[in-house]
Parts: sequence; C-alpha cells; structure tokens
Amino acid sequence: MATDVSASFDRLVTRYSPMIDRSLRRLAWPRADAPKRLLQAMSYSLWAGGKRLRPMLVLAGCEAVGGRLSAALPVACAFEMIHTYSLIHDDLPAMDDDDLRRGKPTCHKAFDEATAILAGDAMLTYAFQVVSEQVRNPRVCVEVMRQIARGAGVSGMVGGQQADLEGEGQSLDLERLVYIHSRKTGALIAAAVVCGALVGGASKAAVARLRSFGRDIGLAFQVVDDILDVTATAEQLGKSPGKDQAAHKQTYPALMGLDMAKVHAQQLIDKACRRIANLPRPQALTTISQYFVARTH
Ligand code: IPE
Ligand code: IPE
Ligand code: MG
Ligand code: MG
Ligand code: MG
Repeated sequence: MATDVSASFDRLVTRYSPMIDRSLRRLAWPRADAPKRLLQAMSYSLWAGGKRLRPMLVLAGCEAVGGRLSAALPVACAFEMIHTYSLIHDDLPAMDDDDLRRGKPTCHKAFDEATAILAGDAMLTYAFQVVSEQVRNPRVCVEVMRQIARGAGVSGMVGGQQADLEGEGQSLDLERLVYIHSRKTGALIAAAVVCGALVGGASKAAVARLRSFGRDIGLAFQVVDDILDVTATAEQLGKSPGKDQAAHKQTYPALMGLDMAKVHAQQLIDKACRRIANLPRPQALTTISQYFVARTH
C-alpha cells in the first residue's frame, strides 16, 4: 500500500476507533431483554474484528461539513450494526455460504442458521432503535432514518443482494454490474457519508455533493472487494478468497481484468475526491476513500 495513504489512514483509525468502540460498547444492547444466545451471536459478529469503515465514514462526513463528532457517534454505530447484519446474512448457506468472516467462523457456523438469521434481523432493527433514541433533533432524526432505510433496503443493499444472487452463472455486462455493486455495497456506504453530513448540519448542496461522492467511493469499494477476492489470502482478508469465481459471480476483474479494474477504482475515487475538495474539512473522507483502493484487506 502507498505509505502516505497507509500512514494517514492509520492516524485516522487511531483518532476515530476508540470513540467508535466506546460508543458501540455503550449502545450495543446493554439492557436488551432477550435470550442470551441471540445476544451472544449479535455481539460475536459485532466484535469479531471488522475494519469499521462505515462508522468512520459517518464521522468523516460529519467532520467534512464542520459538525461535532459526538453527534455523529450513535449514527456511526447504527451503520456498523446494519453492515454487520448484512455480513451475517450474506454468509448464510442460502446466500454466499461462507465459513470464515472477520477471521473467525461465520455466525451460522459458530451458532446455528436460525440464530444467525435472527441475530441479523435483531441488529438491523436495533440500529433504528439507536437512531430514534439518540438523535436529538427530530427533523434530522427522521431524515437519517429515511436515508438508512433507503440505503439498506429494497432499492439499496437488500435489492442489490437479490440482484447479485440472480446474476450468479450469468455473463453480465458492465451496466448490470454497476447496478448490482452500487446497490449491494455502494448504497449503504453513500448513506453513511450522507447521514454523517446530516447530523453535522450540512446544507442541501453539501449533502448532494456528498451523496455523489459516497456513490462513487461505494462502487469503488466493491470493485476492490472483487479484486481482493482474486489476489488476497484468507489470512489477509479474514474471509475465504476465490469465492466469486467458485460461485460463478460476474465481477470487475472478470469483466475488465485485474489491472483495468484497479485503474477504474482509482479513477472513481479521484473523481469523488475532487467533488468534495471545497467542503470545509474534506481530509478524513479523502483519506478513507484513498484507503479504499490502496487496502490489502
Ligand atoms: C465487506 O465489507 C463486505 C462488502 C460490502 C464488500 P468490509 O470489507 O468493510 O468488511 P469488515 O467490516 O471489515 O468485516
Ligand atoms: C457483500 O458482497 C455485500 C453485502 C451487502 C454484504 P460480497 O458477498 O462480495 O462480500 P464478501 O466478499 O462476502 O465480504
Ligand atoms: Mg455476497
Ligand atoms: Mg459474500
Ligand atoms: Mg466479495
């Protein structure tokens, strides 16, 4: 990884991750009245060791428009809960059928399928509970919930996951691949940036700019996920590589080759960064998005 990107990203992780972890510990179901096994499965996956990129994007989106990070933290946690739920369900035998996630057995392997399904359901729902209880301004609260629902739901991540499964074994063109990737992965990433900006008090114009930034970096993130599925090891990824080819999924490297896919991801990121250059404090968003292409896991 380019050393300057890596060093800037590490500095950002050092600044953000203690806050994110502290908030997650405070908000992740401390008083939930539920069967112990369900709570254990939820906590198992939440604390298995994810990179926490979506909560970082919420904080960076807030910072970009000059907002206070404390206001963004509960929303950041909600995004990590929804993302973790999406991984639990993505790994189920009925979907990608994976055994390894975040360096550990997948939730359904460590527990059982029914518990994994319910742990995902519970985490998704809990995320909305957190936002509804923690975001003080009612207008902002409703708008954040709407953006999360749109990013995670039928026209966003869930719809994208369905399209991804339907695409298995098909030779899809670039337009269809953009459709799938920007929904299954890009939509939640774009929503994270937008929601950070909303709690940071962004203007409509800034929100619009950050939404297109988020869409571009979200698509680039999945392009790189496709690349790493070919080039990285299980030790690096904490998940099994080679799964896309085994499941006959259409991917960017399969469609345009590894080198062109990487160039394409970098172009998307560079275009996105230019778009936010005039915001009050775009540095953290720029750093995270440059890491999106430079990352090795
Ligand atoms: C993996 O996301 C799933 C995709 C959307 C491609 P991450 O690579 O951010 O996974 P964690 O959170 O670090 O485990
Ligand atoms: C996952 O895409 C997108 C999600 C919504 C979870 P992948 O299926 O490629 O993610 P990995 O490679 O299993 O993390
Ligand atoms: Mg999948
Ligand atoms: Mg998968
Ligand atoms: Mg993948």
